Amino acid sequence: MHDDVARGLEAARLRSRTLTEFDDRELTTQHSALMSPLVWDLAHIGQQEDLWLLRGGDASAQGLLSAQVEKLYDAFEHPRAARVSLPLLTPAEARRFIADVRGRVLDGLERADEETLFPYVMVEQHEQQHVETMLATHQLREGPAILGAGAPLPPGRPVPSDSVLVPAGAFTLGVDGDREPWSLDNERPAHTVDLPAFRIGRVPVTNAQWQQFVAAGGYDEERWWSPRGWSHRLQAGLERPLFWEADGSRRRFGIVEEIPPDEPVQHVCFFEAEAYAAWAGARLPTEQEWEKACAWDPATGRRRRWPWGDSDWTPAVANLGGEALRPAPVGAYAAGASAYGVEQTIGDVWEWTSSGFEPWPGFAPMLYADYSEPFFGGDYRVLRGGSWAVGGASIRPSFRNWDLPIRRQIFSGLRLAWDVV
Ligand SMILES: [Fe+2]
Repeated sequence: MHDDVARGLEAARLRSRTLTEFDDRELTTQHSALMSPLVWDLAHIGQQEDLWLLRGGDASAQGLLSAQVEKLYDAFEHPRAARVSLPLLTPAEARRFIADVRGRVLDGLERADEETLFPYVMVEQHEQQHVETMLATHQLREGPAILGAGAPLPPGRPVPSDSVLVPAGAFTLGVDGDREPWSLDNERPAHTVDLPAFRIGRVPVTNAQWQQFVAAGGYDEERWWSPRGWSHRLQAGLERPLFWEADGSRRRFGIVEEIPPDEPVQHVCFFEAEAYAAWAGARLPTEQEWEKACAWDPATGRRRRWPWGDSDWTPAVANLGGEALRPAPVGAYAAGASAYGVEQTIGDVWEWTSSGFEPWPGFAPMLYADYSEPFFGGDYRVLRGGSWAVGGASIRPSFRNWDLPIRRQIFSGLRLAWDVV
């Protein structure tokens, strides 16, 4: 177990390094007001690791940074747009700091009891989440490609139907620590939920389908949009997904390329997803529906750990890990289908659901008490399944991500759902 945890931490660090091994200017520039400069993320990763693994979460204890410098990396204190003007550590200082923290953490890990490993994997997940954030920063960065075109992916295939039926019935929503020891507080506890029958898209909505929505005037017709969505669409001037050009090309990590028709659409906000679903005669799934379609096995009456079964992820079943730098075409992962036949729930794109972010009944905050609780009941929508950019232990069928309904610099797409009447 200790070796797995150490390997997870090292894998996360390798990814952080790959995204920050550039000259100082790359790291200290603010590429977008939506994002921190990369050097902030880098040092923040170390600051959180120092706090949770070297000081047991006690912020009043002395860490490796002075209290004054440490404050610069408090995400609640400094909004992303303001971070570039703070007296941050230089890239060289940030690299030395995170390496110093890691060395001490690995020493401590060797002596840690089996029951005390949760914070280590929580910190690994935190770093992996920042890796995804740093990929979003790279995607927003102007200028020629510095990450390459991405690793190859399996080809798509025509899927047997657009949607699958999930019959009415009870299932287990959420997980407990005994079965999913690395699950975070908002995924717990497991509890029974009864849902009416519904249909859900076998695969996520593709670029080709979104192009039809654009061509049909979907962005011009108020009737497809919620009142808030329409006013945002007008005010932000939305006409197509972020990074799409009017000439049918897109910009992806500095490369201008034709929009691949069979890839799940990404970089759409919740309001756009909602409008698309209305235009298509459908709706977004709730997160309860999404999780049932992904993880429930009606034949055995129990949850699978993954949609494809209980065995760990391999590149044959889902597009995770970030190396592809894009989603895989729909139909690429027949072997990753859930018990109901739903494909590509895990990886490829985060999927917007219609649900706000609320605690499950019986919620109890974890060690990092401000991870979920301050966000419950806010103006967020839940996203499920993780994107191609997600790595390591930071995704599960029960994993819940949340963001503001206007956000689209994230790797977000959608899957449709329909009532069954
Ligand atoms: Fe963070």
